[in-house]
Amino acid sequence: MGIEVVVEGLTKSFGKQNIWQDVSLTLPAGEVSVMLGPSGTGKTVFLKSVIGLLKPEKGRVLVNGVDMVNSPEKDIMEARKLFGLMFQDGALFGSMSLFDNIAFPLREHTRKKESEIRRIVMERIDIVGLIGAEEKLPGEISGGMRKRAGLARALVLDPQIILCDEPDSGLDPVRTAYLSQLLIDLNAQIDATMLIVTHNLDIAATVPDNMGMLFCRNLVTFGPREVLLTSDTPVVSQFLSGRRQGPIGMSEEKDAATLAAERTVAQGHVPAGPRTVVPQLEPSPGLPVRQGALRRRERVHAMMGQLPEAARAAIRNSYTPTPGGGRP
Ligand SMILES: Nc1ncnc2c1ncn2[C@@H]1O[C@H](COP(=O)(O)OP(=O)(O)OP(=O)(O)O)[C@@H](O)[C@H]1O
Ligand SMILES: [Mg+2]
Repeated sequence: MGIEVVVEGLTKSFGKQNIWQDVSLTLPAGEVSVMLGPSGTGKTVFLKSVIGLLKPEKGRVLVNGVDMVNSPEKDIMEARKLFGLMFQDGALFGSMSLFDNIAFPLREHTRKKESEIRRIVMERIDIVGLIGAEEKLPGEISGGMRKRAGLARALVLDPQIILCDEPDSGLDPVRTAYLSQLLIDLNAQIDATMLIVTHNLDIAATVPDNMGMLFCRNLVTFGPREVLLTSDTPVVSQFLSGRRQGPIGMSEEKDAATLAAERTVAQGHVPAGPRTVVPQLEPSPGLPVRQGALRRRERVHAMMGQLPEAARAAIRNSYTPTPGGGRP
């Protein structure tokens, strides 16, 4: 079963530039979470901080009793083996075949025999649908295939926590839909805790159990998917509807004058109100029920009283069996 990740009061700056401050959230064990946020809000910096590659100046990230920020480096290195990280740019070695790229963490971090490495690598290549492409170089395949190779490489060490940085960037809508299903299927198969950074609204609407958003150096909110999907907080609803009107501008935060001008134009007609929450993806037929989803159901049930009414309604709705379909 996946491992819970607890982030407490995390603050990161580069020199004088503060990226975000006082970020606290818990990634529940075995659940899928999504982090949204405009470009440049520090999502990649957040992932790298969780895994201990960047050092926030304040706060803690607790994984299995290890603080990925402040523990001794050897403990952090050891804990890092629990993670699989799929980088935003794929980060494949251009001169190595896909097979060697995917085998790399095994050759680097384990003493497994080549025959065992081959078995594991081919299994992961199969999961991400790249059978037949293993001898190709990264430059000889499409961007979508490179993404999947990056995911396969993140999976070779049997991670219990998987971090994906914009797994959909550069993919067409159909491939993005396949990828969404792949992420849910993967979660059903290995029950790993997953955090996905994305701008993609379809992924946000259909994949996660939980969702958060970074904006203006703060974590706007983090919680059950229904809370963000029904939120009328201006930044959240603007982002989720992809509108220009709202607090988010090209340089992330619009100045007050632009915002005021917009309000005059809109004359108070900022489209808000509850959006429809589409059903979350289910694992493909034949796969086990997601244990994380079962645990989440109990967890969310216990916190119902603290959630806004729109979120409560969406949650109740999601548990109502639909004719011909249905949820566990
Ligand atoms: N190693 C570094 N040194 C200095 N500044 C950095 C470093 N890494 C990131 N930054 C800065 O931190 C800010 C956040 O970068 P980050 O890559 O996390 O954004 P992001 O939210 O992932 O954006 P995108 O959606 O475009 O990928 C940027 O202003 C970037 O210039
Ligand atoms: Mg990024």
